[in-house]
Amino acid sequence: MTFLFNSDAARGQVFREAFAREIPDLPFSMDPATVDPDEVRYLMTWTVPENLARYRNLEVLFSTGAGIDQFSTASVPDDVKIVRMVEEGIVRMMQEYVVLGVLSLHRNLPAYLRQQQDEVWQVLPQAQAGERRIGVLGLGNLGQAVLERLKPFGFPLSGWSRSAREIEGVRCFSGPAGLEAMLAETDVLICLLPLTDETRGFLDARLFSQLPEGAGLIHVGRGPQLDQEALLAALDSGHISGAVIDVTDPEPLPPGHPFWRDARILLTPHIASITQPHTAARAVIDNIRRLRAGLDPIGLVDRQRGY
Ligand code: GLV
Repeated sequence: MTFLFNSDAARGQVFREAFAREIPDLPFSMDPATVDPDEVRYLMTWTVPENLARYRNLEVLFSTGAGIDQFSTASVPDDVKIVRMVEEGIVRMMQEYVVLGVLSLHRNLPAYLRQQQDEVWQVLPQAQAGERRIGVLGLGNLGQAVLERLKPFGFPLSGWSRSAREIEGVRCFSGPAGLEAMLAETDVLICLLPLTDETRGFLDARLFSQLPEGAGLIHVGRGPQLDQEALLAALDSGHISGAVIDVTDPEPLPPGHPFWRDARILLTPHIASITQPHTAARAVIDNIRRLRAGLDPIGLVDRQRGY
């Protein structure tokens, strides 16, 4: 029984040490070339390797990241469990980035950066936090953690998810009618949805038109959820006043793409949140302990749902 780690060596070294310390009875390998494929019970990887079928006794496929949309799950046998990365390093980084994005839009940072370029010293109108309504799309562990971190600022907080949730201090909405209701009262929209067939193209012209005039967007979900043309049109009309974009389609963004030079967009190269090896190793080890105890791992993917 072996754990095969198929990712970068630096992170792998951290995992190797943690495994040796915490579960020394589970052999750990970073080398698919020398491992006996029949021994591989656990595989941790970012994408599904083409030769997955050689691991005939595979039980669990661990994603190195929070998302699993990069897995072509159809190529994974039905009896293999797929597990998302749920670890506190990812959570903390996402909290930081979203707070950065919200405060940047709230305090007009894109406009002030433009003014700096143009050597303009001018005070812009400023709304108070209590007047800036924040709405989060997706209330999984990241969505909830981000809302928690935003609480002290005093923004009115809302969240939307497919199925109903209750979160203290957050107005929760669900389903299609709930989405429309939340959008109508959202000044800064944060997308933290998983990428599924239902969320592909979710951020489109229709959705933008349901937001109040001058709303902002923070996109930290997945690139294909955003209709880029629709965003540019909404920025041009002023309906959307600014956007913080961390994920694009494709990635990297090609040279000459309009997002690069658009002063209304703060663009980062998919760095909002990155799996942190020490905390990730702890999360994976905890999950192996859960599996050994006959429990479901944290982050177990529901294949029907797609996340
Ligand atoms: C990054 O986007 C991840 O899925 O962890």
